[in-house]
Amino acid sequence: MTGTLAAFASAALLLALAAINWPFAGDAGPVLPAEVVAFAGAGAAALFTAIVVTIAWTLRDRTPAVIALGCFSMALGMLVRVVADPIGFGLASSTASHLVPLVGMIAGGFWFGLAALSAQPETNHRLPSSRAILVAGTVFVAAICLAPVVNPGLMPGATALQLAAGVAGAGYLAACYAFARAWRLLRLPSQAAMTIGAAGFAFGTIAMAGGGLPGVQIWAFESMMLGFGALPAAGFLIEHRARPGLRAMVLGLVLPGAVTSMNRGYPAAMHGLLAAVEDHDPELLGHVSRVAALAVRIGMRMRLNASHLREVALAAQLHDIGKIAVPQAILLKPGRLTPAEFELMKKHTTYGEQIVRRMPGLSLACRGVGEHHERWDGAGYPYAREGQAISLTARIVAVADVYDALVSKRSYKDGWAPADALAEIVRGAGSHFDPRVVEELVHLQGATDRVVRSAAA
Ligand SMILES: [Fe+2]
Ligand SMILES: [Fe+2]
Repeated sequence: MTGTLAAFASAALLLALAAINWPFAGDAGPVLPAEVVAFAGAGAAALFTAIVVTIAWTLRDRTPAVIALGCFSMALGMLVRVVADPIGFGLASSTASHLVPLVGMIAGGFWFGLAALSAQPETNHRLPSSRAILVAGTVFVAAICLAPVVNPGLMPGATALQLAAGVAGAGYLAACYAFARAWRLLRLPSQAAMTIGAAGFAFGTIAMAGGGLPGVQIWAFESMMLGFGALPAAGFLIEHRARPGLRAMVLGLVLPGAVTSMNRGYPAAMHGLLAAVEDHDPELLGHVSRVAALAVRIGMRMRLNASHLREVALAAQLHDIGKIAVPQAILLKPGRLTPAEFELMKKHTTYGEQIVRRMPGLSLACRGVGEHHERWDGAGYPYAREGQAISLTARIVAVADVYDALVSKRSYKDGWAPADALAEIVRGAGSHFDPRVVEELVHLQGATDRVVRSAAA
């Protein structure tokens, strides 16, 4: 929450900076020299772009690649202006170079609109791989930003630019909506900052499509846009200080599309989402499906009805979904976690619950997800609930989860023999686990061992 407030505070500060420049429009000129604003903006945008591109390069999901190209378009537009235009170094100045930031902003709107579309997994899977998108997109953006500097005749006319700005505005609005949904799910400062940034650019491009803001000088307008551009970078930095792990933040932006599509009944989306979590934490590979299989078998032995079994299956599959918001450095750390790191790790329960709770089709799994680390004796987390106060779904998932974690090989341990794992679970009956659930697992044991072995093979 403090992070979100800090993101909003920096937004206010950046906009205030732009507003200070505003009243001195005309002969007096800007308070902050345009060069300073342009250099700072271009530098921040280039840094932010470099980070997002590096992360997008390693991800299977296409949306981060498209977001990275949006950032690159805006950063390159500003960089060209700084290098080429007389307000900067004045190299290769041409009659069109002052319009290049505008072209970059329009291209950015196109990419951000595409990012909103590609956040739907059914669209995402049909796009080329993220690396192909990055390479082809970089060439395209470089061409449209550099061509008018080399040959000013290639710069589109005012009407064409206004039309394109309108379309770009719609793209930014779509992205703003997608980021706002991401923020509703996880409430990360980076998501809030991206939402406000996209809203600012939607406003800016739509204003340009309407012929600019009356009475506002172009440099005042540009400093305001730079404020909106610097905001996501600030949001990411603030969040990075609180929870190191830029990758988790980028993944956080693509999460809602996957969850919504699952809601709409796309089974592929469920797999896409689980694959994203497994990408993020390879130790989870196969873990969720084995836990789900075991949990459902326990539930069947307990004669749960069909809808309750569905809840158990869903909760088991989604139980570690909140790990998508936990930094990889913590998830993959080979040694013991420090107390602070463990506090962050524990949050995967509440993150997961938040993700699941807001989605009507998945909300029935919400307690199963949020409470899967509670203990029968009340010594668990995050709520320290005790006994029957913990939902039955969560008590079943807890047993299946720990059993599978014990028999699986991890970076810090070998997989236990099923009999040893079962003995450990039995030792925890009445303290860690619901004794009734443990009893069912014991009855299942013979068949279960075969299931676990064949699934792990
Ligand atoms: Fe967990
Ligand atoms: Fe787990």
